[in-house]
Amino acid sequence: MTSELRFLLNDREICLTDVGASDTLLDFLRIERRLIGTKEGCAEGDCGACTVMLGKLTETGMVYEPINACIRFMASCNACHIVTIEHLEGPDGGLHPLQAAMVEHHGSQCGFCTPGIVMALYGLWMSNPDAGVTEIENALQGNLCRCTGYEPIVNAALAAGR
Ligand code: FES
Ligand code: FES
Repeated sequence: MTSELRFLLNDREICLTDVGASDTLLDFLRIERRLIGTKEGCAEGDCGACTVMLGKLTETGMVYEPINACIRFMASCNACHIVTIEHLEGPDGGLHPLQAAMVEHHGSQCGFCTPGIVMALYGLWMSNPDAGVTEIENALQGNLCRCTGYEPIVNAALAAGR
C-alpha cells in the first residue's frame, strides 16, 4: 500500500489513500471512475487500446506522453496529470479536430481501438500538429487496429493538423 496518492485526472484533483502496489491505472479509470472510453484489449501493453496521456512537471514545464494504462501502476502516477479521451474537445466544445477528422476520413469501424488511437495521435498533435506521415506512423506503432486499416487513420491525422 502507498500512504497517499495525489494526481490530476482530466480537470479533477484526486487523492487516494488505499492504493495497492499492483493496482493499475486502467482498472482505476474504468472501474473506479467509470471512464470507459479507455478500453481494455490485451491488458499486456501490446495493443494500445488503453492509451491515455500522462503529464509530468519538469524544469521546462509539463511534459506529456501517451502511455498504456493497463501496465501503469497507480503508485507511479503520483503528482502526474492523467488525460483520458473523455477530456478531449474542440474549441466549440464539440469533437476535437482529431476526432472530427477520424469521422470525416472513416478512420474507425468497430471503434474499439479508436480512443487509444486518438490519444496516441493527440500526444503527437500536442507537440507537432503539422506532423507528416512518418511521424504519424511512428506515433501509432503501439496501436493495433484489426478492421479499419491504417491509411484512413493516417489521413485523418494529416487532415487534423491542417
Ligand atoms: Fe492492450 Fe493496454 S489493453 S496495451
Ligand atoms: Fe475496429 Fe480499429 S476500428 S479495431
